[in-house]
Amino acid sequence: MTDKCQGNGGKDIYLPEMATIKKVEPLTEMEMLFDIALDSGEELGHMPGQFAEISLPGIGEAPISISSSPTTKGMFQMGIRKVGNLTNHLHNLKPGDKVGIRGPFGTSFPVDTAMKGKDILFIAGGIGLVPLRSAIHYVLANRDDYGHVYILFGTKTPADRLYLEELEEWGSRNDITFMETVDKGDSDWKGSQGVITTLMQPATSVDPKSTVQVGMDVSGNMPGLDLVPKNTVALICGPPIMYKFVLIELKKLGVPFENVYISLERLMKCGVGKCGHCQINGLYACQDGAVMKYSDVIDVKEAI
Ligand SMILES: Cc1cc2nc3c(=O)[nH]c(=O)nc-3n(C[C@H](O)[C@H](O)[C@H](O)COP(=O)(O)OP(=O)(O)OC[C@H]3O[C@@H](n4cnc5c(N)ncnc54)[C@H](O)[C@@H]3O)c2cc1C
Ligand code: FES
Repeated sequence: MTDKCQGNGGKDIYLPEMATIKKVEPLTEMEMLFDIALDSGEELGHMPGQFAEISLPGIGEAPISISSSPTTKGMFQMGIRKVGNLTNHLHNLKPGDKVGIRGPFGTSFPVDTAMKGKDILFIAGGIGLVPLRSAIHYVLANRDDYGHVYILFGTKTPADRLYLEELEEWGSRNDITFMETVDKGDSDWKGSQGVITTLMQPATSVDPKSTVQVGMDVSGNMPGLDLVPKNTVALICGPPIMYKFVLIELKKLGVPFENVYISLERLMKCGVGKCGHCQINGLYACQDGAVMKYSDVIDVKEAI
């Protein structure tokens, strides 16, 4: 019989494990990337899309997505935006400082099942790149297992762009198509301007002679999306407003909603289906999500 307090690998789901901050790196003015290792020396054991609860004694605890792929060993990463009490304290931590970790919790993207052999369309808005990055790294580490890979990334302004070196690396690879856009550029911005759906045009509708900067990749080309819709799996993560418009475009492109996975954030406390804080009309975002198949929640009120 399984003990109700035991999670994966026999861990106590309520008891934080001690972990050490190994590296701290600013991503933007608001977001910081933390390399963290469990003091036990074990791997966290997550799959892309899962989250863990990070805590500081006497301050609090919060759910944060794992931003690194399980293919990276010896540590895991969290990209954290400072918005309040705990996250402000976390931003003051230095390498060597201790945190508590519970998890990993929640569902994950089907990287080893439904995504295998398919073309993959990643659509990330702003800090939504943090959880998607885990799946992106996993797919790139196992590149031969997937078909064409598109990564679309949108932020409000150039200053909100995250993981800059990686964006450059993705843009320089010829085995994936990386496109990004900002809602509003500044005088230095040479790329695409407009909301993320700007990047979701079929290749056939893109006019290469157009001088309007839409749907441009980092080389200044405008590839558009050359999808075989039924063979495409789309993964979406971003601010709530983004989902509605991205889903409309995916429908126009013909991608079946059974092939669309979304990551839904809700206010969470326990993270393990006990407190009810994260309920969405009978679903528990912490256990039925955060990653959900869109066709499973399409009729659930307030899910999107
Ligand atoms: C599954 C999941 C994954 C997450 N992944 C990340 C991540 O990778 N990086 C990251 O920076 N943040 C992530 N978050 C959000 C993060 O948990 C909150 O920002 C954090 O709890 C804030 O804690 P705090 O004590 O600093 O802020 P508080 O002082 O508690 O609150 C500050 C403000 O933020 C609001 N707030 C707190 N939590 C949430 C929430 N979940 N959704 C919307 N508003 C909230 C509060 O209502 C308040 O207005 C995730 C949340 C969930 C549920
Ligand atoms: S966060 Fe407690 S039930 Fe989901």
